[in-house]
Amino acid sequence: MPAAFDVTALRAQFPALHQSIHGQPLVYLDNAATTQKPQCVIDAVRDFYLHDNANIHRGVHSLSARATERYEAARESIRRSLNAANLDEIVFVRGVTEAINLVAASFGQTLKAGDEILISALEHHANIVPWHLLRERQGIVLKVIPATAKGELDLAALPGLITPRTRLIAVNQVSNALGTINPVQEICALARAHGIPSLIDGAQGLPHGPVDVQAIGCDFYAFSGHKVFAPSGVGALYARRPWLDTLPPYQGGGDMIEVVRFDGVRYAPPPAKFEAGTPNIEGAIGLAAALDWHAQQDWTGIARHEAELLAAATAGLAGLPGVRLIGTAPHKAAVVSFVMDGIHPHDIGTLLDAQGIAVRTGQHCAMPILEQLGASSGTVRASFTCYNTLQEVESLVRAVRRAQQMLS
Ligand code: ALA
Repeated sequence: MPAAFDVTALRAQFPALHQSIHGQPLVYLDNAATTQKPQCVIDAVRDFYLHDNANIHRGVHSLSARATERYEAARESIRRSLNAANLDEIVFVRGVTEAINLVAASFGQTLKAGDEILISALEHHANIVPWHLLRERQGIVLKVIPATAKGELDLAALPGLITPRTRLIAVNQVSNALGTINPVQEICALARAHGIPSLIDGAQGLPHGPVDVQAIGCDFYAFSGHKVFAPSGVGALYARRPWLDTLPPYQGGGDMIEVVRFDGVRYAPPPAKFEAGTPNIEGAIGLAAALDWHAQQDWTGIARHEAELLAAATAGLAGLPGVRLIGTAPHKAAVVSFVMDGIHPHDIGTLLDAQGIAVRTGQHCAMPILEQLGASSGTVRASFTCYNTLQEVESLVRAVRRAQQMLS
């Protein structure tokens, strides 16, 4: 029988968790915004700076060769982590925002006025605004899979939204604002059955467990390093190889070319074609360390643990007078968003911080769904991850109660 999941041992690997804020032990519940980093990630980045720091590719000197080797090995860690079929299907980017902008800018060049992009009501602004840019520039049409009052996608509406002009279906794996887990495999299968490519925003998916892009069946999958225990400013776009072969580059510059003359240019093969300029080399190395760490975790135990955190937080907060939970889908990641009668979310957030508790307040870059659910002033969002504990949930509920008493 495998050893039970040990949250204390896991927490011990994250130095930033062990500190006091305003004289109270830190309770870090802002993991959907960014996660803390395990020591192995901090060590990997430090080790790179201490020993191998140099620019990659084309360098004939030893440090450059070592940096290149580590950067390309990082790509392999990402391929393995996502179970992509080919190494050259992994493009380093800044994060999900850049990944979706890359697809919108590049794939977008194949679109004509009247072509439709289908997204969902649960999207983060990163999967809305890049398509608006195309709407403004090229006249594409943005269509939306609706969400129910619980914050679940209304999948029954999806087939009716697909038309001969649908060019892409782009949805998130997990809603950042509500925690809803979307049936991405089903959505991608439907897209494929209609010959439509699919894009999955995995920013909130990968932090909660292993991802297999081939099993999901998507054409594009994007994630951000900083939300999955890695440094910020780095992430990856997975794209099936035929797309990377045929789509035009996103940005021009060094490293993405084979030949440059004043009368013409020949691009490098993918993924280099999509990686203009010096990338975030140390970020890629930190990302690989984070994903190698991620691969070693007991995700069955963590899933059980996160489900307990979610159940306890949901019950504890719903039991407080005047609290309304925003997003009550039956299938959720460990995210609890709520509002309180007559109290602004920012005021709650400030009083929680005074008690050492870090949550996020506001619209979480997901204005459309919060407006739909009657929370246009925003919510208080507690987002949990593998290193959070039931004691922290209890501290949160106690602190919210105290904040409420102070403010009412
Ligand atoms: N997308 C990040 C969040 O949900 C910033 O908080």
